[in-house]
Amino acid sequence: MVSIKPLRPLFAAEVTGLDLSSAPSGDTMAAIEAAFERDLVLVFRGQDITDDQQIAFSKRFGPLETTKVGTPGAGSALIVLTNIGADGQIEPPQGRQVLNNKANQHWHTDSSFKPVPARASLLSARILPSSGGNTEFISMRAVYAALPEALKRRIEGRVGIHNFAYGRAKIAPHLVTAEERTALPPVRQAMVLEHGAHGKSLYLGAHCAAVEGMTAEEGRALIDELMAFAAQERFIYSHVWRPHDLVMWHNRAVLHRATPFESVAEKRYMVRTTVAGDGPTV
Ligand code: OGA
Ligand code: MN
Repeated sequence: MVSIKPLRPLFAAEVTGLDLSSAPSGDTMAAIEAAFERDLVLVFRGQDITDDQQIAFSKRFGPLETTKVGTPGAGSALIVLTNIGADGQIEPPQGRQVLNNKANQHWHTDSSFKPVPARASLLSARILPSSGGNTEFISMRAVYAALPEALKRRIEGRVGIHNFAYGRAKIAPHLVTAEERTALPPVRQAMVLEHGAHGKSLYLGAHCAAVEGMTAEEGRALIDELMAFAAQERFIYSHVWRPHDLVMWHNRAVLHRATPFESVAEKRYMVRTTVAGDGPTV
């Protein structure tokens, strides 16, 4: 019997009584869907699954995104987040994958740089360091609900400009390739998203470079103010990984980031699938 219990107040829940190496029933999927919309982050422990099993389960939530150019797994439904290079050795600190992992240590939401941003991500822990390398989540629904009225008024109807190159360039000037720049021009995203009965959420993150209709300084100041408000302990769930955990999150209602670990000494290997969104945000 599938059971869903909260991991902390406001959001995040653990789902037990499921073996994802075989397909859950329609009723079970309906229960998971409802929990996903309500709790935003779902933790499934002890799921020793293959890539194909992860893809099959992920597809139950909708069509999957194809991994963008310039990322391991490009053109497939899988994204590999690791510090292990093609030769099986740990990459040096300036290695491309290590730098991309560093970029993931900034609060962000997956694919907000695409015209139709992702609905959900599912991340499976295959190799973990002995400490660190957690993944943290902010409920941007709880954040929106708690925003001062004056700030809510300032962002109502506003559009953020999300740009993959913007966040990456802050990590290292050459991290973004010409191919990525061409494939991923800046896109417009609503700053406030509606989730029907569940209320609204704030939509921001590291790819958000500017606010439409504001000067660069004005927009930057507003984004910084909102991000500082969002990144409060009371809105955060920090996931400490165990081997074979699968964690699923709602990309349109949470931000996430990785925490550091001893990347030159220990290996970390995570596999992600990404459920596509069903339309643009504006
Ligand atoms: C991701 C991501 C963070 C982590 O998979 O999209 O940002 O902890 N991961 O690896
Ligand atoms: Mn991510």
